[in-house]
Amino acid sequence: MSSVVIVGTQWGDEGKGKIVDLLTRYADYVVRFQGGNNAGHTLVVEGKQFIFHIIPSGILYEDKKCMIGNGVIIDPAVLLGEIKELQEKGLPVTPERLMISERAHLIMPYHSTLDQASEAALAQGKKIGTTGRGIGPCYVDKVGRRGIKVGDLADMGVFRDKLQTNLDEANFLLTQKYNVKPLDFDLIYDQFQSYAEQLNPFSGNVSLELDNARKRNDNILFEGAQGTQLDIDHGTYPFVTSSNTIAGNACNGSGVGPTHIDAVIGILKAYTTRVGEGPFPTELFDKTGEELQKKGGEFGATTGRKRRCGWLDGVVAADAVRLNSITGMAITKLDVLSGQSKIKIAREYQFDGKKYQAMPSNIQLAGSVQPVYEEVDGWQEEIGDVRSFEDLPAKARDYIKRIEDITEVEASIISVGPDREETLLLKNPFEN
Ligand code: GDP
Ligand code: IMO
Ligand code: MG
Repeated sequence: MSSVVIVGTQWGDEGKGKIVDLLTRYADYVVRFQGGNNAGHTLVVEGKQFIFHIIPSGILYEDKKCMIGNGVIIDPAVLLGEIKELQEKGLPVTPERLMISERAHLIMPYHSTLDQASEAALAQGKKIGTTGRGIGPCYVDKVGRRGIKVGDLADMGVFRDKLQTNLDEANFLLTQKYNVKPLDFDLIYDQFQSYAEQLNPFSGNVSLELDNARKRNDNILFEGAQGTQLDIDHGTYPFVTSSNTIAGNACNGSGVGPTHIDAVIGILKAYTTRVGEGPFPTELFDKTGEELQKKGGEFGATTGRKRRCGWLDGVVAADAVRLNSITGMAITKLDVLSGQSKIKIAREYQFDGKKYQAMPSNIQLAGSVQPVYEEVDGWQEEIGDVRSFEDLPAKARDYIKRIEDITEVEASIISVGPDREETLLLKNPFEN
């Protein structure tokens, strides 16, 4: 039995969904542990694309169990929409296949309204560029000890009281601070009564379920959302999301103790992208940046925004290895680099005569540092059809070896295309 955590090493969208889907083959359970429907995880199976925002990416395998842990925040409309969509595709999602932690918090309609209103009120340069899905305000209520949990849907009396208190406060902010129309209590209450009927059968104790799974020697795969540089504590604050995205939170966000984690796979895109605002030292504003954006199809899976693109950042990768205790790398989108004559990797940053080997916590400094690059040769061949390491062009192999040297972590998986099959599984993390 093994427990493997998948995390993003950069600013999200590294290809976590694809790798989770691939590794689900070897798992019995797939568990989301943080974030909400700000995530957009894309899988392609036999040419068919699926995008999941809240349901774990393991759901396409009918014999696997999917868990949404206590650390996740849930917009019921989005979750029920995904369940319905899967049902229509002939993949029924039953409580036997999906459990939602009763401790997970609910994203309420006023959370997304507040998220959008507060972003709109921020001056240029101060905007975070959130997904507008209510993530920040929902986690604020959770930490403020007034949030509404999935478990509260089992007692509509409790739900009613909490909604009244929370909505009063949200409406005060909306009308007095943001000059936005207040939301209607009855409308929300009625909507959630219907959500409660549909969601209650799915709610349960995820921690207990996973403990029993572990005792049965089942394999458990934890699916991170966002990426290390978006972590609320360790990322480019305040240009981050509102949860801990790093591997340690797989434990907190699902109710599993730290000694039960066996491996951590860091998903590393072969170059770098970022959606939303904030520092991005290796960002390219030239033709190469445009080429990566186009060839990589770099549009946000949640908001459709164009992703900012740049070279691979070895400083960001080193931060990720340290913060997540990564045991193996999955290098994704290597195929997108085909055709580049030279490829650059940032080895450190410099500013004002000083050198930096980690992302500075001072946000002005993080936005000012310049990358110090090393340059390697690129390769011209398209590699989407390659299925073994030896068949990759020599320069592509060199690039991977260089990444291994820099990060001091071996590459376990190489991804050469979006499809499940377009993958080189060099070392299966479930076979230790
Ligand atoms: P996630 O949020 O980390 O799951 O990543 P996204 O799904 O938001 O973005 C990754 C995008 O790249 C998706 O459109 C994937 O289908 C696609 N993708 C994943 N791996 C590869 C790869 O190796 N090559 C190419 N060309 N596309 C990939
Ligand atoms: P996946 O799981 C990329 C970014 C937003 C914004 C910041 C805060 O698909 O990798 P939020 O709505 O969370 O308050 O926005 O975080 N962001 C992501 N960027 N991939 C994601 O998820 C993201 N989730 C949030 O663009 O900059
Ligand atoms: Mg994504």
